[in-house]
Amino acid sequence: MDTVKFGIIGLGLMGREFASAAMRWSHLPEMDVKPEIIAICDKNLTPDMEKWYREGLGTVKQAVTDYKELLANKDVEAVYCAVPHNLHEQIYVDIINAGKHLMGEKPFGIDKKANKSILDALNKKKDVVARCASEFPFTPAMQKLGKMLEEDAFGQIIEVEAGFLHSSDLDVNKVINWKRMIKFNGEYGVMGDLGMHTLHFPLKAGWKIVDVRAFLSNIVKERPDGKGGMAPCETWDNATLLCRAEDGSGGAFPMTIKTQRIAPGEKNTWYLNVKGMKSSAFFTTRKLNTLEVIKNEGKEQLRQEYEMGHQVAFKSITGGIFEVGFSDLILQMWAAFLYELKNGKPKSRFSGCVTPEETAVSHSLFTAALESHKNESTVKLY
Ligand SMILES: NC(=O)c1ccc[n+]([C@@H]2O[C@H](COP(=O)([O-])OP(=O)(O)OC[C@H]3O[C@@H](n4cnc5c(N)ncnc54)[C@H](O)[C@@H]3O)[C@@H](O)[C@H]2O)c1
Repeated sequence: MDTVKFGIIGLGLMGREFASAAMRWSHLPEMDVKPEIIAICDKNLTPDMEKWYREGLGTVKQAVTDYKELLANKDVEAVYCAVPHNLHEQIYVDIINAGKHLMGEKPFGIDKKANKSILDALNKKKDVVARCASEFPFTPAMQKLGKMLEEDAFGQIIEVEAGFLHSSDLDVNKVINWKRMIKFNGEYGVMGDLGMHTLHFPLKAGWKIVDVRAFLSNIVKERPDGKGGMAPCETWDNATLLCRAEDGSGGAFPMTIKTQRIAPGEKNTWYLNVKGMKSSAFFTTRKLNTLEVIKNEGKEQLRQEYEMGHQVAFKSITGGIFEVGFSDLILQMWAAFLYELKNGKPKSRFSGCVTPEETAVSHSLFTAALESHKNESTVKLY
C-alpha cells in the first residue's frame, strides 16, 4: 500500500470530512494508495479541535496556526485546503509553489482573477497535481447516468437542467456568517458556493457553455450579526442561469443551472436532468439511491426506476444492496483524488475529480452571469 502524506489547512466543516474519510480508508479494499494526515493547520486552532484530529487520526505530528509552517514541513506531500474563498488565491499559490499536490475547495479562487493566478502558478509547476473538491457525481446513480451518456443512450440532447438548492436561508433570523459576506465569499454569492457542484457533471460530459442570460436575486438584505444588531447581507441568494450549450457534435440545447440558498422545500438538493430523443434521466439527491429513466419507444414512453445500492466507482466493503449517503460520496471523491495522484489519470471519465481547467470554465460562466444580470443581456463566454 502506497501512502501519501497529507496536511490539512482549514479544520472546519470540510477539513473534518476529509479527516473522517481518512479514518475509514479501510472501507476501500481495492485501493492501493492511502492518505496519511501528518500535519494540521487552522488559524483559530482550539485544544478541542486539535484533540479531535489527533485522537481520531493517530498520525498527526504537527499542529500549527500558521500555514507556512505546514508548507515548510518536508514530509508533507499533498495538502487539502478548505478555507474561506478570499484566502484561496494566496494559500493555493503558496501550496503549489511549495511543490505540494493540492486538493482545493471550490470556487478555486474568489473570482476569475484569483482563479487565473492559481492556474498560472500550476502552469509553472507541472509536477504538482491539483484538483477541486466536488462529490455529488460520485453517487452510484450519477455514475450510471455517466455510463449511459458514454453509451449514447440519450441520443440528441433536448435539454439539461442542473441545480443545487438549499433552504436554510429562508430563516431570516439566521445569524450572518462569512459565506454571506462579499469580502469573504466574493461577488459571485451563491454561484461561488454552489455553482461548481452543478457544473462538475456537465463539464465531464463535454457540454460546452457558449452563452448565458442570468437572473440573480438578493432576497434577504440584512441578517442578525450575532451581537444584537443587524449586518448587511449583500451576497446573491439565488441565481438562475439560462445557457446555450453545445454537445461537441454540432448540436445545441438549453441548459438551465440553478443555485439557490432560498429554495422553499429543499434542504440540500443537488439534481441533474438530461432529456434526450432516445432516453431521458432524472436524478435528485432527494431520492439519492434512485435513477429515473424514460425510454422513448416511438409511440410509447417507458418510465423506469433503477434502485441503486452501493455500486460505487471505488469498491467499498459496504454490501452492494446498501444505500449511500453524503459521507460515502466524500470518501469516493477522496479515493478518486488518490487514484489520480498515483496513476496520473482518473479511473474513468465520470470518476474523475474537477480539474483546474474546469474551475476556469466555471469562473468564466459566473463572471459572465454577473455581467448578464447587471446589463440585462445575454453574454457570450467565447
Ligand atoms: N465540497 C463541499 O461540499 C463543500 C461544503 C462546504 C464548504 N465547502 C468549501 O470549503 C471551504 C471551507 O468551507 P467550510 O464550510 O469548511 O468553512 P468553515 O468556516 O467551517 O472552515 C474554515 C476554516 O478555515 C480556518 N481558517 C480561516 N483562515 C485561515 C488561515 N489563514 N489559515 C488556516 N486556517 C484558516 C477557519 O478558522 C475555519 O476553521 C470553502 O471554500 C467552501 O466553499 C465545500
